[in-house]
Parts: sequence; structure tokens; C-alpha cells
Amino acid sequence: MTQNSAESGASLRSARWFRKNDLPGFIHRSTLAMDGWTRDDLMQRPVVGILNTWSDLNPCNLSLRTLAVKVREGVLAAGGIPLEVPLMSISENLIKPTSFPFRNLLAMEAEETIRSYPLDAVVLLSGCDKTQPALLMGAASANVPVIVLNSGPATPRSMSGGELATANGVWKFVDQMRAGALPDKAFETFERNVMGSPGHCAEMGTASSMSIVTEALGLALSRSSLVPSTDARRGQLARQVGQRAVELALAGGPTPKDILDDHAFDNAISLLCAIGGSTNVIIHLLALAGRVGVPLQLGRFDEIARRVPLIANVQPAGEHLTERLMMAGGVPALFKELSPLLHLDARTVEGRTIGEIADAAEITDDEIIRPRHRPVRPGESLIVVKGSLAPDGAVIKAAAADPALFQHKGRAVVFEDVQSLADRIDDPALGIDENSILVLRNVGPRGAAMPEWGMLPIPRRLMARGIRDMVRISDARMSGTAYGTAVLHVSPEAAAGGPLALVRTGDMIELDVAGRRLDLLVDEEEMQRRRAAWAARDEVHVRGYRKLYNSHVEQAHKGCDFDFLRGANPGNLPEGLFDGWVGGW
Ligand code: FES
Repeated sequence: MTQNSAESGASLRSARWFRKNDLPGFIHRSTLAMDGWTRDDLMQRPVVGILNTWSDLNPCNLSLRTLAVKVREGVLAAGGIPLEVPLMSISENLIKPTSFPFRNLLAMEAEETIRSYPLDAVVLLSGCDKTQPALLMGAASANVPVIVLNSGPATPRSMSGGELATANGVWKFVDQMRAGALPDKAFETFERNVMGSPGHCAEMGTASSMSIVTEALGLALSRSSLVPSTDARRGQLARQVGQRAVELALAGGPTPKDILDDHAFDNAISLLCAIGGSTNVIIHLLALAGRVGVPLQLGRFDEIARRVPLIANVQPAGEHLTERLMMAGGVPALFKELSPLLHLDARTVEGRTIGEIADAAEITDDEIIRPRHRPVRPGESLIVVKGSLAPDGAVIKAAAADPALFQHKGRAVVFEDVQSLADRIDDPALGIDENSILVLRNVGPRGAAMPEWGMLPIPRRLMARGIRDMVRISDARMSGTAYGTAVLHVSPEAAAGGPLALVRTGDMIELDVAGRRLDLLVDEEEMQRRRAAWAARDEVHVRGYRKLYNSHVEQAHKGCDFDFLRGANPGNLPEGLFDGWVGGW
């Protein structure tokens, strides 16, 4: 520990716990003596919390256990005290009924952990879909200096010496299975290969999208988001992250609120559009903006999508996996190509601006990172529609949809909930044809905690005829690896009494992507009659977290955060108020 760093640490947050010669100071220091830290350590060194969402239940985050060791080494090398803190882990594929409601729970846990403990800076270790936004949201509210390191993408195996098994392939297998066209044993082979290594999904699903967006927000080291989970460079990054965390602790910033301004969100949305990223990120960015008081609206995504082309040739919108994107120059190279469209003055936790990072970047493969004038697909990656069926908006992942359906009028076939969908989707009596519009409701934030059910299955007999896409509308989300003309996140949701609750089978619905409209073609008089007759479903969650969730979750166009978690927060305990308070003695 140098004299300088010890001096600059005089105003450390942790000093309020450790640098006082009184009873609380004695208790706080002697408590951490059990961890092996001396009085001198605690009186001189900054404390870095390593918030870790490692879990055996969450193999996407499995590498975080070893990465945390490397982060510790980096913190120690820079003169800090590393304290690792296990937090709840949310495993996308295992947790029931859906991972989504637990994002807010983990966000609360992260916020209160940071705020209530003597941490001068925090490293956030996350990976699988919900762990990333949850930690960001919690850290943004706590507003202690923070730096993010994710587990990194997995490395898929080849199934046959050629084709790689990826999560994206699941949906194609499911389609083939429903069409009765899946070769024997193919699914079993796929199952054996699809999870080739620990790490998060390796295509542009929600996890990779969130990682890239986090780097674009300025909260992660540049080039850190796409290094594969098993790549030695991720360990090197972890050490750098630990060292940088100590510097942030000693400098007292920048804090999340210093970085997360409207420019940072614009840049993040631009990257999201350029990579054809997951629609789930829209919800997470809206929630994060709400935490720091940035008035981000759903319409801003549409505005930016109109000017930022899809230039990253990565599945599901393109051909390759994220490792190729890293090799082509990664996020800094995307910054370079998108420079005229970005706010280059935006700050980052590594100290450089986005413009400085872009200047130093190189694009090494223009088939993977295309020039803006030669995009992977023409048109917008994301589209926001509004109209009588979605007064507060709905989203379409245009990069993964069929443009032939962008102007479409069809007869609605309504499924009341997911059980009714499962029971009836193949019922010929419903008269579903390729022009029908499938509607699933009561799967929004309050209705069913917004699962990824928005890619409704196409009826088997249509699949057998080669129909691969139809207009599907719901208040659900969709997996970042899924595809199809799915109108998602309809807001207000059916369970909140939105117009989606009033649609009946046989009604006509019009989707007009060019006009950004989604309309239910039913006259207002009839809608009033239906509205008067509508009653909310009985609340099934009468206790516990799900009761809290359903009582306070906001609608999709606001990010599905809890209403009481929005807005600026002082971030720290009020100076002095509790400093003399000693619990447990
Ligand atoms: Fe965890 Fe995809 S299932 S990142």
C-alpha cells in the first residue's frame, strides 16, 4: 500500500466502519480479523466487494468461481482487500416458473448488500440472462463504484464435425420435430452437444446482448464482453478488473450514476440494434434507466433502430457465433464502425471515452462486422408498434422476423393462457391457417411473470405444409435465441385490463410495421361493452415474494421493475446516523 493510496483512501466509504478509534471501529475490525485482515490492513486499504452469482445450479455462471479468484489476485496486487459475496443465482433453464420475476429479487439483494456493507467498490460477476441486469440495477441504485465482469460465452461443440450445437438450434429442432421431419436420434445427439462448456449462450441471445450492452454503457472493460468463458484471456481480464476496482475505490468513482446518463443509454441501444440483440434487453435497459432517473422511453428504441443498421453477422439474425465477433474486433470495433451514430464523449469505468476506445480499435473481418452501407440485413433490427391493441407499445425483433408479414391483416385465434395454447394449438376445429394471427394473453408481467412464451408454436399441420412463420401476438417475452414474427411485450398486458384482454377469436387484427401500428379492428362501442364485462382473474399469489411481485411490478414499457425501486436514491447510509450503531454485540 503506497502512502498516496493510503491518503486518498482517507475518504473511503469503508473508513466509516474501520478507521475510527471507538467501539464500532473495534468491533468492525475484529470481525474481519476472522477473515485474516489486520488492523493495519483495515485502516489503510480500500475494500472491494466481489459480488458473485456462481452456482452449481447455474452452469452459465460456473466459471465465475475461478474468475473470482483471479479478481481477488488483481485486488490484492493493487493493494485492496477483496471480499467475495455470494448472491442468488438465477439459472434461466432450471428455475420455475420463469426466471424473470427473480431479476428484481436479485437486484434488491445486490443493492442492499452493497449499501449495507463497508464496500468502496464492487465487481459484479454475472453471466446468465437475469443475473446481468439484476446486478446492474442493484448497483445503479446503491451507486458505489462498480465494474462488471461476465462469465463469457460458452464454446459449443460440433455435432458432426461441421455444424455447431447452439441454443439457437433448439428452436429449429423443435420446429422439425413438430413437422415430423426430425431424423432418429438427432435430438439426443443435439442434447449431448449443445452445452459444450460452461459459459452463457454463445449466440446473440439475451446474455451476449446484455454483455455487449454493458460494455457499451461503459460499465465493463473494453473488449471484455465476448471473450469465451474457457479462454485464458478471461482470467487475465479478471485480474485487470480487480486492479481497476481498487483504482475506482480510491478515486471514489466514477459511480454508476456518473456513467449512466442519456448518452450512455443511447449508445447501448445503438449497439443493441447493430448486433440484432435480444428484445429482453429493451426491458432491462428501461428498468436500469428508471433506477438512475434517465427518462428513457420505449419509443427511443424505435428512433435509434431506424438509423442504426444490423452490422454484426451473428446468430440468430446472422450466421456466426459471438467468438467470431470478438475476433473481428469486438465491441470497440463496433464502436468504430458506428462512430458517427454514437455519443463519443460517453465515459467508461476504464477511464477512456467511447470515442477514444473507438479510435484505437480495428475491424479485422468485415464479413463479421459489416460496413454500415453493407448490413447483414436491410431495415431495422427492432421495431416498436403502438395502436388500439397496444396503447403503450409492443416490440418486434425485426432482425429475426419475416418481412413478408410486416403488413398483415388476419383473423385472431385467441389462447387464454399457456395451458390453453398447449391443449388446443393443433385442434383443427380452430380453423387456423397461415393468415391467422395467434394471440396468447395472460402471460405478461402480472399475468404469469412474463415468461419467454412469445414465440407461439405453429400448428403441426401448417408446419407439415412448410409454413415456418406467422404473426403471433402476446404480452410475453421471447428468448433472445428465438425467431419469428412475434409481437411481444404488449402493454398494458391482459392481466392489467389492457385491450389484449378484450380480443376474441374471429376479430380482425392489423399489423402495419411501416406505420408502426398494431390495431384491433373492432369498433369502440363494442370495445366498451367488452370492457364493461371484463373482470380480472383471481390473484393466485397470496403470500411471499410473488405476492410482492404482483403487487408492485410495472408494465413492460417501463421495464417491469418494482414501482418503489424507481428513481434516484441517496445511495449510501446517511453519514453519521448509524455509524455508532453496533449490532450483534
Ligand atoms: Fe444461461 Fe442462455 S441459458 S445464458
